[in-house]
Amino acid sequence: MGFPITRGRRLRRTENIRRMVRETSIDSEDLIYPLFVTHGLDVKMEIPSMPGVYHFSVDTLCKEAEEIWQLGIHAVLLFGIPAEKDEEGSEAYSPDGIVQRAVRTLKECNPGLVVITDVCMCEYTSHGHCGIVVDGQVSNDETLEYLARIALSHAEAGADIVAPSDMMDGRVMIIRDTLDENGFTDTAIMSYSAKYASAFYGPFRDAANSAPQFGDRKSYQMDPANRREAITEMVMDLDEGADIIMVKPALSYLDVIADARIEFNAPIAAYNVSGEYSMVKAAAHNGWIDEERAVIEILTSIKRAGADLILTYHAKDAAKWLKRG
Ligand code: PBG
Repeated sequence: MGFPITRGRRLRRTENIRRMVRETSIDSEDLIYPLFVTHGLDVKMEIPSMPGVYHFSVDTLCKEAEEIWQLGIHAVLLFGIPAEKDEEGSEAYSPDGIVQRAVRTLKECNPGLVVITDVCMCEYTSHGHCGIVVDGQVSNDETLEYLARIALSHAEAGADIVAPSDMMDGRVMIIRDTLDENGFTDTAIMSYSAKYASAFYGPFRDAANSAPQFGDRKSYQMDPANRREAITEMVMDLDEGADIIMVKPALSYLDVIADARIEFNAPIAAYNVSGEYSMVKAAAHNGWIDEERAVIEILTSIKRAGADLILTYHAKDAAKWLKRG
């Protein structure tokens, strides 16, 4: 079956032939656009380390959501920047917190938009950790009930999907139980199941002002060197009731996405994180790479690895380019 009978180039000869045999395609429906919401009025402020990504106040959100919707992107992931931080991250579960208000507003102006909320404490705590600190350590079990309260407050505001990103053990179970006990049996859970302690979150921590004030996140986020452990984490989250499992970051972890695709039938999401975005932006700004081609190649690789859904700050640009075809 080798050369000269087989010639790979036959099916690469024209663009239309290439399209016919293309194995992977991206659709704007696969993309989830992260949005940062902040207090104040009439705010649309660019994040310095993430060109093209903004902080929005609640009153400017609907206009942005309309633009996103028109591009064919039908899901957003909300992050909140609180007015004040404290030890327990209390704005995270306040019914009048920034995310809760943003959810209600988005659901009013566009009931069809799929609103996903990030369930975590790091943006809300004064120490910047993703949980309750006891004796200088993030306490797993004390954090769980806070996470459940946060998720419930998001569901009460109208979130379609809650997305715990903290990496505490057992959080999916307590969130599922709490939602069910309160009548939110239809609120789904997208769990950041295999979330690694990554350097690629740098620009996000600037954007959300959420860098830990002491230590790092290595006692709860996964070691980048571990591949098999990701399967264990995903099995646990599915057993506890996760509807969608996530691998994060995406690009340095395509092997983990591919493993998950083989192992599980559940939908798999991959988070193309802030550092992955900003590297492309910086290189494109310097004229070192072709931004459009690089972004489409990156998103295609994440889908080819096996992701069904991609959370990406490139979503709006990519949707525009895909529309143009
Ligand atoms: C935690 C959270 C983080 C991100 C999403 N949720 C930051 C972290 O774990 O430090 C990172 C997203 C990104 O880098 O784009 N609330």
